[in-house]
Parts: sequence; C-alpha cells; structure tokens
Amino acid sequence: MIIAVDGPAGAGKGTISRALAQHFSLKYIDTGLMYRALAYKALAEGMDLTHEDSLVSVAKTLTTNDLQLPELRMEEVGNAASKIAVLPAVREQITLHTRRFSQEIVLPYRGVVLDGRDIGTVVCPDADIKIFVTATPMVRAERRLAEMVRSGKQPQPNMLEQIIERDQRDQTRTTSPLVPAVDATLFDTSELTIQEACQRAVAIVAEYQSVNSECLKSANGCR
Ligand code: CDP
Repeated sequence: MIIAVDGPAGAGKGTISRALAQHFSLKYIDTGLMYRALAYKALAEGMDLTHEDSLVSVAKTLTTNDLQLPELRMEEVGNAASKIAVLPAVREQITLHTRRFSQEIVLPYRGVVLDGRDIGTVVCPDADIKIFVTATPMVRAERRLAEMVRSGKQPQPNMLEQIIERDQRDQTRTTSPLVPAVDATLFDTSELTIQEACQRAVAIVAEYQSVNSECLKSANGCR
C-alpha cells in the first residue's frame, strides 16, 4: 500500500503520516527532510541558494545519515529548503532519491507512507490513497509556535508571515507546485486536535481498505 500525504507547512502531515505508518505497519518517509538536509548543507557551506548545478551535485551525495540531524528542524532551514525546492533539477534529483527509498520496503512493513508537497501529483501519482492535509494559516502558525515552546526553542514573532510566505513560494513555483492531486481526499484539520486528525486519517485509510476488499470480492469489481 502506498499512501501520499501532501499539504502546506504546519498542517499536521508529519504527525498524521507517522500515525498512519504505525497503525498500518508502513515505512514512513518524510520527503521534506531531504530538501531540508540539502538546504542545511548549502547554508553550512555558504552556497548560493539559487545555484542549481552546485546544489544538484550536493543532492547527489545525500544519504540517510544526512537526514538525522536535529538542526534540520530549524525554521531557517525550512525556509531555505523552500527556496531551493523551486529549482527543477534539484527536485528531479530528490524525487529520484525518494522513489529509491520508497522501493526499499521489507517486512515487517506492508507498504509506505510519504509526506511532502508533490507526492500525489509527481512522486507517486499511482499511490493507492492520497490525502491533502490543510489548516488555516493562523492555525498552522499557532501550532508551529506551540511546537517551539514545547521543544524549548525561542518562539519567533513573525511566524504567520513566514507561513504565508512559504505557502506562496510552494504554491506558485513552476515545477511541482503545492496543489492537491485531482484524486486526493481533502482533509481540513483547522478545527481538530492532532489526535482527532490522526484518528480521522486512520478512518479514511481503513474505509479505503474495506471498500477495496469488497471490490476484490465482488464478481463485478468496482475499479
Ligand atoms: O515540516 P514542514 O511542512 O514545514 O516542511 P517540510 O515538509 O519539512 O518541507 C520543507 C520545504 O521543502 C517545503 O516548504 C517545500 O518547499 C519543500 N518540499 C517540497 O518542495 N517537496 C516535498 N515533497 C517536500 C518538501
């Protein structure tokens, strides 16, 4: 089973994807981490964030070890990730890595859940289930601030502006912009606690599984 979870920053994709992975015994791949790992290396080496060729060379060297650093979660790294994510050749390279990781599925995993911005549209257009998670910019900014307070980080005063700016860049880039796939289930989490959001997401997938197994049993088939 392949599940694609897309959506903007702070919508709850990561927590929802982890909950789905745990509930359905799936491998979890956070594709944003690859953009963040590349951005982190670029910032550390003082690289020009618009220089596509050099960024692609670094992207080719990324390994799973590069995805472990706690610094990747910094807001500054997320913003730099969104800047380099507009570059088509960088996206191509990271999509190649993502597809490779998603094919390395061994027991006890029964499939994979990937979260990102373009999973349902570009990386895995044939995913079995596509969920597009949203929430209002204000709710997402509040969640990000609460997350910072919880993890002992200094809350940033302009979080709402940063969220809006990142949405704008992710939605308007020419290559793989952040848009729901036509066959995605839209899931607005603005009014839900994260626990409720996870439960609903599990219910969406369980419903898909039950409809699908009914289809397989039915002589006519439903597909
Ligand atoms: O955790 P958050 O939603 O803030 O961000 P992330 O998923 O870690 O992704 C960081 C940035 O990488 C995003 O703002 C996107 O610009 C970019 N990204 C992307 O373009 N495509 C993906 N599949 C994943 C991330």
